[in-house]
Amino acid sequence: MIFKQLFDQETWTYTYLIADPASKDAVFIDPVNTHIDDYIALLERYDLRLKYTLETHVHADHITAGGLLRQRLGAQTAVSHLCGAEAADIQIKDGDIFEFGDGEQIKVIATPGHTRGSISLLWRDRLFSGDSLFIGGCGRTDFQGGDAGALYDCITQRLFTLPDETLVYPGHDYQQRWVSSIIQERTTNPRLAGKSRDEFIEIMANLNLPKPRLIDEAVPANRYCGLDENERQDAVALRDATPPFRREFSTQDLVAEAKQHITEVDVTTAKKLLTEGNIVLLDVREENEYAAGHVDNAVLLPRGVLEFKIAGVPELADKSKAVLIYCRTGGRSAFAAQTMQLLGYTNVLSMAGGFEAWQKTLV
Ligand SMILES: [Fe+2]
Repeated sequence: MIFKQLFDQETWTYTYLIADPASKDAVFIDPVNTHIDDYIALLERYDLRLKYTLETHVHADHITAGGLLRQRLGAQTAVSHLCGAEAADIQIKDGDIFEFGDGEQIKVIATPGHTRGSISLLWRDRLFSGDSLFIGGCGRTDFQGGDAGALYDCITQRLFTLPDETLVYPGHDYQQRWVSSIIQERTTNPRLAGKSRDEFIEIMANLNLPKPRLIDEAVPANRYCGLDENERQDAVALRDATPPFRREFSTQDLVAEAKQHITEVDVTTAKKLLTEGNIVLLDVREENEYAAGHVDNAVLLPRGVLEFKIAGVPELADKSKAVLIYCRTGGRSAFAAQTMQLLGYTNVLSMAGGFEAWQKTLV
């Protein structure tokens, strides 16, 4: 693989190039418009084909080269759907995966806080943290929908939970440091290490930073992928003529996504809840699986017909009543729990590990 970290001295911005020399697919993260010719020369040197330009957010300190790269090379531009950048080809959502080369994937982790639409990008063992997490610091949170509490939550819950050895490549550094790691930031970042959420909010509220020099120019331009007014209309027309970005998820991704929106309990907790009573136990496996063995008193409602038959299940008439759902291993029950929440059920739990885990506790 080809991996390059590029630096813009004017704005202290890091730009990243990731490319697969076999397929020639290339991706830029946070390119700066003044370096457009350098980027094109670099791509030509390695004979690469730029597939995507990914933005970690709408920047206030520099203008992106995304729009120009699209015009010159046809690469799709992508920025969070929360950034108000309507001209971008792809409106990025949390969990999106950008595929390139031979099975290479860049995964989107929403990390709002520096701006409302800030994201981090994970490729292999490398995290591109934009302005959400810096080496020994983090981006400011006092404009563009910034929110110090949200930033603390996503850094501590989503970034600091990545493997320790994950490399952290920030969007800026002002002291010529190039790379850090999750363990280094978790244990030594002065704004975050050992700091409570309230302490972090207090620190961020008292930074007293000057307004970014280019903000009035950069933010509106970056909403149009860095293009000037004349170029914008062409960009919108081009975007509309391009086939939409196809999101493709594996079943595992879908289960993981569903689990982010529901509450799981382990078998021990499930048993305790059942002993206490006043909870409906729902088996969402298929009829033949149920017939082969099930938990006592479980009501059968297969996942495939749940939405259609739920109204006919008397035990589920009261949407505020607690429901504990299980399937074979915990995937279908996660989907079922999410669906039931959407249908208005307020107290739904999914049993992690499902009937298989339940049976293991019996031996
Ligand atoms: Fe920024």
